[in-house]
Amino acid sequence: MNKTLETLYSHVSVRSFEGTILSAETKDQLLRAAQSGSSSNFVQAYSLLDITDPGLRETLADITNSAAYVKESGAFYIFVADLYRQAVMLEKAGKPLDGIRTMESLMVAIVDATIAAQSFAVAAESMGLGICFIGGIRNDIRTVAKQLNLPKFTVPLLGLTVGTPLAKNGVKPRLPKKNVYVENTYDKKTMTDLHDYDAIMRTYYSERDSNAADTDFTQKMTEFFSVIRRKEVGEFLKEQGFRLE
Ligand SMILES: Cc1cc2nc3c(=O)[nH]c(=O)nc-3n(C[C@H](O)[C@H](O)[C@H](O)COP(=O)(O)O)c2cc1C
Repeated sequence: MNKTLETLYSHVSVRSFEGTILSAETKDQLLRAAQSGSSSNFVQAYSLLDITDPGLRETLADITNSAAYVKESGAFYIFVADLYRQAVMLEKAGKPLDGIRTMESLMVAIVDATIAAQSFAVAAESMGLGICFIGGIRNDIRTVAKQLNLPKFTVPLLGLTVGTPLAKNGVKPRLPKKNVYVENTYDKKTMTDLHDYDAIMRTYYSERDSNAADTDFTQKMTEFFSVIRRKEVGEFLKEQGFRLE
């Protein structure tokens, strides 16, 4: 197996870090990896905020529900889906912003930011560092945007902790091939036949070292999606200038 596959296959989210701060050189290498990703129409619609101010980091960490490891990792970043640069260009050219406000443009920015974030994460893991994405910044997306001084046409999408791992969990079993992969057209029956995976996950959850539980994938997903979460995100996107249509 080559080293890239080894890195990808051994991914686990890390939630326990040594306090060692990342060097400027490491940070630059990771940024370059993030910027090397593909970008829809080369819009490069994202920005990366490196949260080095301890007070700001503490405030953001308290919003995430993942405060302990957000505070102690070697670095904490926010990936922002960002069409503000394009908005400024259009404004300077005296053009309307309708092409930026669309759901399609928002999707472009979210995909670009996500590709950059995953490239950054894999590069960090290839160096032996550990990472954990922090969607918890969207628990209070308005306060996060305010704290970060974010302009219109930007969305604080993800946090990312990066650092030297103190402890690592075992790799989590993924959905079997038959549930996620099909040749040509979608197959409703096999994609949703989760009997085997539920058995695998029931064993995994009951035997894992931390947070052991008597549950399975179907039960977890049913509980998770029975609740409407972060309802204000849609409203926030509209406030940021997106029409969601
Ligand atoms: C977009 C995104 C947001 C996430 N947000 C959080 C978070 O706020 N807190 C956390 O502890 N883990 C978070 N995670 C990590 C997931 O829980 C984790 O990836 C998943 O359980 C699979 O485990 P693994 O990464 O160890 O394979 C997030 C992952 C992604 C992709």
